[in-house]
Amino acid sequence: MKITTSTQKYVWEIAAILLGGAFAATSLLAWQSRPAFDLKASITRGKAIYDTQCVTCHQERGEGVKDVYPPLAKSDYLMANKARAIASVVNGAQGAITVNGAKYDNEMISIDLTDQEVSDVLNYVRNSWGNKGDAVRPEDVAPQRKKKAGE
Ligand code: HEC
Repeated sequence: MKITTSTQKYVWEIAAILLGGAFAATSLLAWQSRPAFDLKASITRGKAIYDTQCVTCHQERGEGVKDVYPPLAKSDYLMANKARAIASVVNGAQGAITVNGAKYDNEMISIDLTDQEVSDVLNYVRNSWGNKGDAVRPEDVAPQRKKKAGE
């Protein structure tokens, strides 16, 4: 067969279509392998955890206690860094911080929760009292856990 310019163009077009199809198929597969996350359900579970584990310090409406416990409601510090918020809960937090322009220098003990509970309680606080944040997934939690001695 004599290869003319138009045959070449035709071959390239077919190749491009096949490649495009393969790309779309892999993207679809990748997308399907990450299960949908039900943020609403997570927030609901998170409220129950907040009401038992966090409310004594951070208070009913996340307002905190002046000079002692920082607020979570509309907290610039909380919303600025998802990984840091996860780390504060699983490893505890201490040292001087500034939240919404006010200084706190206190200590929060680590709270013993599963990866899913951490994601739930953070989805609750990050989506309550005027906060709006994207989902914290259980798989985001493990990388923030500090290794304990012997592990
Ligand atoms: C015993 C009191 C106490 C409890 C219980 C507690 N915290 Fe805290 N939390 C603190 C203190 C104190 C700080 C500030 C630490 C510092 O000064 O560095 C803090 C800081 C934080 C911060 C970062 C600062 C901010 O305002 O954004 C987050 C996020 C947070 N806590 C979330 C939680 C969550 C979620 C829970 C429940 C799972 C919880 N805390 C339970 C006392 C507490």
